[in-house]
Amino acid sequence: MNALPAYLLSDSAAISSDGRLSIGGCDVLELAEEFGTPLFIYDEDHLRSRCREAVEAFGDGVAYATKAFLCTAMAQLVHEEGMQLDVATGGELHVALHAGVPAGRLVMHGNNKSEIELRMALEAGVGRIVVDSFDELDRIETLVGDGLDPPTVLIRVNPGVEAHTHEYLQTGVADSKFGFSLAGGVAEAAIDRAAASTAMELAGLHAHIGSQVFVVDSFVKAIGALAPLVHRAGARELSIGGGLGVAYVEGESAPTITEWAGAVKSACADAGIESRILAEPGRVIVAQAALTAYRVGTIKPIDGVRTYVSVDGGMSDNPRPVLYGSGYEAFLPRATDAARGQQVRIVGKHCESGDVIVQDASVPEDLVVGDILATPVTGAYGHTMGSNYNMVLRPPVVFVRDGTARLVVRRETFEDLTDRDVD
Ligand code: LLP
Repeated sequence: MNALPAYLLSDSAAISSDGRLSIGGCDVLELAEEFGTPLFIYDEDHLRSRCREAVEAFGDGVAYATKAFLCTAMAQLVHEEGMQLDVATGGELHVALHAGVPAGRLVMHGNNKSEIELRMALEAGVGRIVVDSFDELDRIETLVGDGLDPPTVLIRVNPGVEAHTHEYLQTGVADSKFGFSLAGGVAEAAIDRAAASTAMELAGLHAHIGSQVFVVDSFVKAIGALAPLVHRAGARELSIGGGLGVAYVEGESAPTITEWAGAVKSACADAGIESRILAEPGRVIVAQAALTAYRVGTIKPIDGVRTYVSVDGGMSDNPRPVLYGSGYEAFLPRATDAARGQQVRIVGKHCESGDVIVQDASVPEDLVVGDILATPVTGAYGHTMGSNYNMVLRPPVVFVRDGTARLVVRRETFEDLTDRDVD
C-alpha cells in the first residue's frame, strides 16, 4: 500500500503538488515524451556529488569502477570531479581514452588481460595495473622486454573473506577466479616476484571482496586478513576495491561513502597500516542517480493467479532481476507519492517467461495502458549489462541538470542492428 520511499530517488528529485516527478528540474513525463521509452534518466548533480564525496572521503587516487556505467560523458564527468577511473577491459580503456581522460588517471583491471590489452595499457601509460595472475606477470615482462616502459603495479590479493552478498557477487572467497590467494603463500610469491622484477614497479596491494556489500565489517575483516602481507610487502598503497551496497527497495539502507571510508581507514589504523588507502566504488556512485522510464503496453489479469503488466523494455535493459533475483520498486511519475495498492508482476517484451523487471511490484490501482512507469535505482549495471536480445534497441541515456536534458547516448537504431553484418 505504501507510496514509493523518497530515499530511493536521486538527490534532485522533486514532486509537484499534483504528484508529478521532476529530476534535475526536468519533468519525467516530458522527458519520456521527448526522448521516447525506455529511457535512462541520470541526475547529473547526484553523480557529481557522489564523486566529490568519494574524493573527499578517500583522497586523490580513489577510482570509479566504470563497469557500473560508462559512456563518454560519464568518463568526462568522473574525471572532472577528480576521481580516477578503473577500467577492466580494452573496451573500457578505449572509452576512457576516447573521452580524453589522461592515461595516468586510469587503473587497469581484469583477471585475464590479453597481451593486446596489456600492450594498449602500457603504450597509453596507465597509472596502475592491478596484476591478477602469474601469466600476467609473464606477459608484462615480455612486453617490457620488447621495449615498453615498465608499469606501476598493484598485486591483487584474494583475502579469503566471505562478503555478505549474492554468491555471484562475491569475489574474495577461497574458491574464486580472482587474484592471488592469501592462503598457501601464493600472494607472497607474487609479491616477491613483482618486487624483484625490473619490468614493473610494485606500489602495493589490492583486494576486492565483492559487490552490493551492506556490512562494512566485511571490509574490516579483509583488512585484518591482509595486514601481515601489507607490512611484509612494505606496500605504499592499499586498494580495498569497491563493493559498497545501495538500497534498491523499501526497507533497505546502506552506509554512506563517508561512513565506509571511515570504517576502512580506522581498520587500517588499528592494523598499523600506513599505506595510502585507495578504493574503487562503482555502484554507490551511479545506482541511485538514475531511473528507467518505460511505457506500459499491456495489462493482463489472470483470474486467481496474478496480473501481468508488460513494459516496452525488459531483460535487455535490466538483466539484474533475471541474473541475481534482484528486487526493484516501481511507481508512476504522474502520481509519484500515490498509494500503491495493487500487486502486479512487471515484465518486459522479450520472448521468455523469465523476462521479469519486478517480480512482485506494488503499483497504484489506477494504472492504465499507456502510462509511463518508472523503476528507480537503475543507474548501475543496467545500461552496461544491456543487450540486443530479440533485436530490441538499446535505450538512450539523458543527463538532467538545472532544467536541461542532455542526450549522452542516443537510442540504438534498426540500422545499427545490421551494421556489423557482412553480406
Ligand atoms: N573493483 C573491482 C575489481 C570489481 O570487480 C568491481 C565490481 C568494482 C571495483 C566495483 O564494485 P561496486 O562498487 O560497483 O560494487 N553485475 C553485478 C555487479 C558485479 C560487480 C563486478 N565487480 C550487479 O549487477 O550487481
